[in-house]
Amino acid sequence: MIGENMKTSVDVILKEYDLELLEEDFDRISIFIDDAKKLNRICSRLNKLTKGIILRVISSEEFEKKSCGDVLTISFPSTLKAKYLDLIKWTKSGQLNDARKAGVNLAKKSKNSKILVCTTAQKFSEELIKGYLLRRYEFSNYKTIVDKGVGSVTLMLKRPKDFEKSLLETKAIVDGVFFTRNLVNEPANILNTVEFSNRLKELATIGVDVEILEEKKLAELGMNALLGVGQGSANPSKVVVMSWKGLSENTKPLALVGKGVVFDTGGISLKPAGGMEDMTMDMGGAGVVAGTMLSLAKRKAKANVVGLVGLVENMPSSTAQRPGDIVKSMKGDTIEVINTDAEGRLVLSDLLWYTQERFKPAGIIDLATLTGAIIVALGYENAGVFSNDDDFCNSFLKVANQENEGAWRMPLGASYDKKLKSRLADIKNVGGRDAGAITAAQFIQRFIKKDMPWIHIDIAGAAHTKSESAFAPAGATGWGVMSLNRLVSEKFENNK
Ligand code: BES
Ligand code: MN
Ligand code: ZN
Repeated sequence: MIGENMKTSVDVILKEYDLELLEEDFDRISIFIDDAKKLNRICSRLNKLTKGIILRVISSEEFEKKSCGDVLTISFPSTLKAKYLDLIKWTKSGQLNDARKAGVNLAKKSKNSKILVCTTAQKFSEELIKGYLLRRYEFSNYKTIVDKGVGSVTLMLKRPKDFEKSLLETKAIVDGVFFTRNLVNEPANILNTVEFSNRLKELATIGVDVEILEEKKLAELGMNALLGVGQGSANPSKVVVMSWKGLSENTKPLALVGKGVVFDTGGISLKPAGGMEDMTMDMGGAGVVAGTMLSLAKRKAKANVVGLVGLVENMPSSTAQRPGDIVKSMKGDTIEVINTDAEGRLVLSDLLWYTQERFKPAGIIDLATLTGAIIVALGYENAGVFSNDDDFCNSFLKVANQENEGAWRMPLGASYDKKLKSRLADIKNVGGRDAGAITAAQFIQRFIKKDMPWIHIDIAGAAHTKSESAFAPAGATGWGVMSLNRLVSEKFENNK
C-alpha cells in the first residue's frame, strides 16, 4: 500500500517508428500537426486509413482557431482500428509548456485507455509525457466502486533509446508530485501524525536518511511553540528529518522546511464548521517537502538537501493550548498565543530555528498553508513568495515560471512588526486582519538568523483547489515539487 504511494500507475512504453503500430490495438492515436500542415509518413498513412479525414480537418476553420497544444479529436474515423484520432495543433513558436499542455489535454480525454502518441521532437515528448502523467492522477483510495484498469501510453519515437534516461527523470518528478498529492488528499483520520511519519520512513528504501524526533526529544530541545500546538491532540507531535546526500558531507545543504498540521480545527479558537473539512490539507507544506525529497532521491540528484517537517494536530480539548497562553520558543523568544488558529507560524518558528542550529544550511525554503489572507490576495493560481534575499528569491521565481507553477513575490518590512507587539511577551502570534499573510511572514522571519538566505512560501491557495488546475484534477495539486526540483538541479547540483 505504501510502496504504491511512491510511484505512478500509468505505464509508459517506448517504441521505434513503425507504420504497423498504427493498426494495432489502441483506443486512441495522437499525432502532431504543425504549421506547415505537411503530413509526415505516419500522418499520411493515417490520412489514407481514414479516407483523407486528416487533411479535411486540418484545413478547417475549427482547426485553424485552435492554439498550440490544443487537441481536436476525430471519433470513430473510417476504417481506423483506434476509436479516436487526436490531432495536436503545433506551431513554430511552440514552447515546452505547450507540449505539457498537449499532454494534459490528452490525459483528460483518455481515462483508462490505451493510447499511442506519435511524436517528432524528442524534447517536446518529455514535456508531453509529463503533462499526460500529471493529469492522469486520480485519488480513488476510498471509492469502493472504481473503473478497472489504468491504461497505458505508448510513445512512438525516432530514437527510443535516447529517451530512456529522460523518461526516468520525468517519472521521478511525477512520482514526487503524486506522493505529495496523495499525502494532501488523505483524510486526517487516516493520515494522522503517526501514519504520516510511517510514510516518510518509506523514503529510506530509496536512499533518504529518515529520522523521527518524538515529543520527549522535542521537549528536551525546547520546542515549546511547536509542542503547544499539538498538546490538545491524542496524536503525538513529531518532527521528521529527511536527508538526501548526493554530495560529500562538507557541502552545506539546502534546507526545505514544511508545515505539517495534519488537521487544523483552529484549536480553542475554533474555526467555523463551513469548509473546515478542507483543513485536512493543512499539512501541504510538509507534503511538498516530502514529494521533493522523493523526486531528488529517485533521480539521484547530486546535491545535499535536508527536508524537515513538523507534524502536529491542532485540536480543542481539555489539554489544548488556550488563547492567552505564553510559550517559550526554542530560540528563547516568548510568544503570546492570542489565537490558537494561528498555529502554523508556531510550528515553523521552532522548526526553522532547529534547522539552522543543526544544519547551518546554505539556504532555507519553508512552505506552509499558512494564511487565508494569501488566498484573498492571490487566489489559487499563485503562491505567495517572501524572501530576505533577492538573488535567492529571483532564482526561485525563475524556475517556478519555467515550470508554470504560479509564484508571486510579496513584500516584507520592519514596519509590519509593530502589529506583532505583545503587552506581556516578546511577540504575539497574530497581527490583525490587514496584511495577514505579511505579518505571518514577519513573524516567521524573526526566527531566521541574520544573513541566512531564506524564502517563505505561503501555499494556502496553491496547494489545493476546488476545481481542476493546470496539471491536476480538483484537490491536491502538488504545487512546488517541480519548481523545487528544478531549483536544486540548476542551483545546487554539481557537474551541471
Ligand atoms: N491553516 C490555516 C490557513 C489556511 C486557510 C490554509 C485556508 C488553507 C486554506 C491557518 O492555520 C490559519 O488558520 N490561519 C488563520 C490566521 C489568523 C488566525 C491570523 C487565517 O488565515 O485565518
Ligand atoms: Mn489555523
Ligand atoms: Zn493551519
